[in-house]
Amino acid sequence: MQYADVFEWLEHSFLAVYIRQSPLLFPAIEIVHIVGFIVLVGSAFLFDLRLLGVARKISVVDAANYVLPWARRSLFIVVPTGFLLFISQAKALSTNGVFGLKLILIIIAIANAGIFHRFTFKSASSWSNSETPLAAKAAALISLLLWISVISCGRLIAYF
Ligand code: HEM
Repeated sequence: MQYADVFEWLEHSFLAVYIRQSPLLFPAIEIVHIVGFIVLVGSAFLFDLRLLGVARKISVVDAANYVLPWARRSLFIVVPTGFLLFISQAKALSTNGVFGLKLILIIIAIANAGIFHRFTFKSASSWSNSETPLAAKAAALISLLLWISVISCGRLIAYF
């Protein structure tokens, strides 16, 4: 079975046909997708802004403990709804460059967050209440740019 066959099979699956044939299901899933990524990108933004020096009264560790669990939880909404939206038009989206770029940017954004937590955040207790190190600021800036790009690609899929 080739990749194209997998997308063909997905698009003709019971679930995909059901989503396509219902007038309300696709927009309803899209709304849940949007609510999910508002929580994801919103939490990432608040934390990134804190790393860049906004709201210094809140320690970086406290900010991380409060917002980042929400970012992780929201993935359980964003990914399944994204998958359902995808299967309903799998063949066209599998060759859509903007959709492909969006997925690559999501992977890079998650890798950026992972690298930040694996290295820079390890020593956060020593700088949590003072000036944020340059590596943390760089990770925050990259994260902001990546999530803005992911949202832009998501919105642009419909036009390409
Ligand atoms: C992780 C963060 C994500 C963000 C910030 C995001 C963002 C967006 C945005 C802004 C839209 C357009 C909504 C609209 O125009 O009404 C969208 C639609 C969509 N997303 Fe996502 N998305 C994410 C994850 C995913 C994932 C993981 C998938 C696939 C597995 C996915 C698949 C889709 C599909 C298929 C659409 C509909 C495209 C269309 O036909 O217009 N998304 N997303």
